[in-house]
Amino acid sequence: MSLSPEDVPLAKAYRLLNHGPTVLVTSAHSGTRNVMAAAWAMPLDFQPPKVLVVIAAETFTRHLVEASGEFALNVPPRSLARATVEVGTVSGRSMDKFQQYRLKTFSAKCISAPLVEGCIAWLECKVIPNAYNQSQYDLFVAEVVSAQADPRVFADGRWKFEYASEDLRTIHHVAGGHFYSIGDVVNANQ
Ligand SMILES: Cc1cc2nc3c(=O)[nH]c(=O)nc-3n(C[C@H](O)[C@H](O)[C@H](O)COP(=O)(O)O)c2cc1C
Repeated sequence: MSLSPEDVPLAKAYRLLNHGPTVLVTSAHSGTRNVMAAAWAMPLDFQPPKVLVVIAAETFTRHLVEASGEFALNVPPRSLARATVEVGTVSGRSMDKFQQYRLKTFSAKCISAPLVEGCIAWLECKVIPNAYNQSQYDLFVAEVVSAQADPRVFADGRWKFEYASEDLRTIHHVAGGHFYSIGDVVNANQ
């Protein structure tokens, strides 16, 4: 090792892994819909495909997800970075954030939560209830029941960001509304 590692305060350790794609969590129940940002979402299993996402207890999303047992993870590109911070900063408890931030939606295939137009991937999810994980860690495990992606950037089962506009790249939250967008290809097979 050429350089000595520097200690990272444990309170900041999560930031070392925090830059997976930030997502928009959409939800709906009894005619009410909502959207929030989430940086803490990741794949969990292949078959059946599962994901996990942290949805804090105080969010309105949490109420809608627990009531409906469903949510969608929408993957926003760079062009939606500002909207991502906006929907991640205010609560939808007393407003329709889709209208407020001019986010258009389209219908999901298998769930009632809407999908956000302009995103580059959409995963429709049904919660696998686990009261302990949900109450103790705000952690939701869900099965992915439908998935779609923008073919300009995801084709043949792979992301192809290098062939598309930079505006279509995923955004990765670091802290305080500061993101990186995904960078260069590194092909370890060549
Ligand atoms: C970039 C970003 C990432 C966020 N990640 C999460 C997350 O992973 N989990 C979470 O519970 N809240 C997260 N938040 C905060 C929620 O998006 C925020 O509390 C939101 O206002 C909740 O909205 P709601 O009350 O309408 O559901 C994030 C916010 C931002 C801006």
